[in-house]
Amino acid sequence: MRKRLVAGNWKMNKTYREAMALFDKLNDAASSMPAEVDVMIAPPALYLTRFAKNSTKKIEVGAQDVSHREEEEGAFTGDVSAKILKSAGVRYAIVGHSERRQYHGESDEIIGKKIRACVRAELIPVYCCGEVLEERESGAHFDVVRKQLDTALSGFTAEELATLVVAYEPVWAIGTGKTASPEQAQEMHAEIRSFLKARFGDEFAEKVRILYGGSCKPSNAEEIFSQPDVDGGLIGGASLNADDFSAVIKAGF
Ligand code: 13P
Repeated sequence: MRKRLVAGNWKMNKTYREAMALFDKLNDAASSMPAEVDVMIAPPALYLTRFAKNSTKKIEVGAQDVSHREEEEGAFTGDVSAKILKSAGVRYAIVGHSERRQYHGESDEIIGKKIRACVRAELIPVYCCGEVLEERESGAHFDVVRKQLDTALSGFTAEELATLVVAYEPVWAIGTGKTASPEQAQEMHAEIRSFLKARFGDEFAEKVRILYGGSCKPSNAEEIFSQPDVDGGLIGGASLNADDFSAVIKAGF
């Protein structure tokens, strides 16, 4: 049985004061969040230490990105290594978000290195994949996502990826208000699981958590999360409001 995970990706939002207010509200709501769900929030990097130190056990903290470099420390201005994140109490790192791919030219080779860095430092990698609208419309979406997984996860053993979380985020659904239908999410999640089964074996595929992301909100979360291969969500806009995020966490319970 896979434990559901609902993660909030705050992206480049919230001033320090606003972030603390939202964080406090979420901590207050933590006791009413279902025990059957893991909860993670990924605020702007600057706030990570503060959040990691002050969060209730229920709410874990993740980075939105991590350095791809092999070196754990060194002269790499602006980079934050997995080791540094880990030392500050961070548990997860999102890697390969489509906004990193789009605005920073990140390839699956680079993203694979970020996963490697997470594995080395024992951070839980949340690997994002997903097709753009033209790929969906031309029917190439399964091939695109398989190729992303194939490249980013190449060279890893099942053991190394034991904590891996995959997030399927169709790019056309991110921030657009247009959600994948529960059926579209389910069929892609099943495809991802079957890819992982062929690559890493049955046991791995049964255990790995696959999240859906893209305009997920209180009004649609329950239907999406009820699909057999959907193990929770990676939430953008709706994670910026404590009531909405709490409602998504509770969806289906
Ligand atoms: P939205 O929920 O705002 O569509 O963003 C999804 C996302 O990109 C989470 O990483």
